[in-house]
Amino acid sequence: MTTIGIHDIELATGHYVLHLDDLAAYNGVDPMKYHAGLGQDEMSVVAPDEDIVTMAASAAAALLARTGTAGIRTVFFATETGVDQSKAAATWVHKLLGLPQNVRVTELKQACYAGTVALQAALGIVSRNPAERVLVIASDIARYELDSPGEPTQGAGAVAMLIGANPALLEIEPHSGLFTAEVDDFWRPNGSNTAVVDGKLSVSAYLDALSGSWEDLQAAGGPAVSEIDRMIYHQPFTKMARKAQTRLREITGGTAQNDAALQTQEDALAAAASYNRRLGNTYTASLYSGLISLLDNDPADLTGKRLGLFSYGSGSVSELFTGIVQDGYRQVRDSSRVAKLLDEREKLSVARYRELHESVSYADCVTPKVTASPFRYVGTSDQARKYERV
Ligand code: COA
Repeated sequence: MTTIGIHDIELATGHYVLHLDDLAAYNGVDPMKYHAGLGQDEMSVVAPDEDIVTMAASAAAALLARTGTAGIRTVFFATETGVDQSKAAATWVHKLLGLPQNVRVTELKQACYAGTVALQAALGIVSRNPAERVLVIASDIARYELDSPGEPTQGAGAVAMLIGANPALLEIEPHSGLFTAEVDDFWRPNGSNTAVVDGKLSVSAYLDALSGSWEDLQAAGGPAVSEIDRMIYHQPFTKMARKAQTRLREITGGTAQNDAALQTQEDALAAAASYNRRLGNTYTASLYSGLISLLDNDPADLTGKRLGLFSYGSGSVSELFTGIVQDGYRQVRDSSRVAKLLDEREKLSVARYRELHESVSYADCVTPKVTASPFRYVGTSDQARKYERV
C-alpha cells in the first residue's frame, strides 16, 4: 500500500536574536518568568531585508538541495503575516526558487493553524496522483505591541516540507480530530502590524480546542491515547505544550502508564521545545519546528513510533492527527543544522530591537543589505515588493 506523508522538512529563521534575559532586565521582570513561566529563552528577529518570503525561500532551498524539484506541481504557503492582501507570498517564492511555470501556488490563512490545512490538502493531492509532490511552507513573524504581555513570546521562522508518497520521515495517518469555534482570542485587524490578543482567553480557547479535537479523533476512529508514543503541540510559548499535556492527561485519564512512560513523555516535551525556546513563536511554523526539534533531539530511536500532532489557530480552528516515524529518519536530515543556524544569529540590543519593531512599514523603500540568508527583500517600488537571490 502506498503511504503518504512528510518526505523531508527544513527550517529557516531571522538574522537577529534577542536574549530574553536582556528583555527581562529592560522590563524589570524576573527572567525566570520568561524562562520557566513561559518556557522561552530567546526570540528571532528579522532584519529589514528579511520577511516571510525570504525565510520561506531559505527553508525551501535547503530542503530542495537534497530532494530536487521533480514532481512538484503545487506550492502551498501558510501564513498570518501576509505581505499583500491579494497576491500570494508563494508567487515570489516560486520565482526565487526557479520553479517551472506548470506549478500552482497559493496562500492559506487561519492564524497558526493554516500550515496544517495546507498539509492535509497536500495529502489529498498526492493521494489522487502519487507521482506528484507538494511543497508546503509555513512562514511567520510573531509581532505583539511593545511592553505587552505577549512581547516576550514573539519570534520568526519558516518551515518547508515536501509531501509525497513513500515518505522518508513521517507517514501521516488518515484520521483527524477537528474543532472550530468562532472566538475573539487573537486577531490582526487590516492595517495593523501587531496582533490584538486576549492572552488568557487564548490559553483557555486553545485547551478547549484540544479537548474538542481529542473527542473528535476518538469518534473518527483514531488511535487510543495508549497507542500514541509522543505528542507534539503548537507552541505559542513552550510552556503551552506542558499545559496541553496536562489537559490531555485530565481528559483521557492519563497518557502514561508508569514512571518510565512518564519520563519518556517529559523527554519528548523537552525535545520538541528545544528549538522553539530559542525561536520564539513562529505561528504557522511552530508545530512543525516542534516536529523538527523532536526528530533532532529526542534521545530515543523514534523509528516506528506514533506521534500525535496538535495544531491550533486562534479565532479558532484546531486539528489533532497522527503519524508514524519512518525507518531511516535519522539519515534524512543533518540534525545539527538548525542548532547551528540558531547559534549563528547576530545578537541584538534591546534598544535596536525596539527600533526595528517600530520601523515595519509597507511604504516604498530600499532596504540596507543585512541578511546572511540566500534571499533578500530589496524593497518596495511603486507599491510592488521586490526580492533577489543574493
Ligand atoms: N518565575 C517562574 N514563573 C513565573 C514567574 C517567576 N518569577 N513569574 C510568573 N511566572 C509564571 C506564572 O505563574 C504563569 O505560570 P502559569 O501559566 O503556569 O500560571 C506564567 O509565568 C505566565 O505568567 P502570567 O502572569 O500569567 O503571564 P502574563 O499575563 O504576563 O502573560 C500570556 C502570559 C501567555 C497571556 C502572554 O504571554 C500572551 O498574551 N501571549 C500571547 C498569546 C498566546 O501566546 N496565547 C497562547 C494560545 S494561542
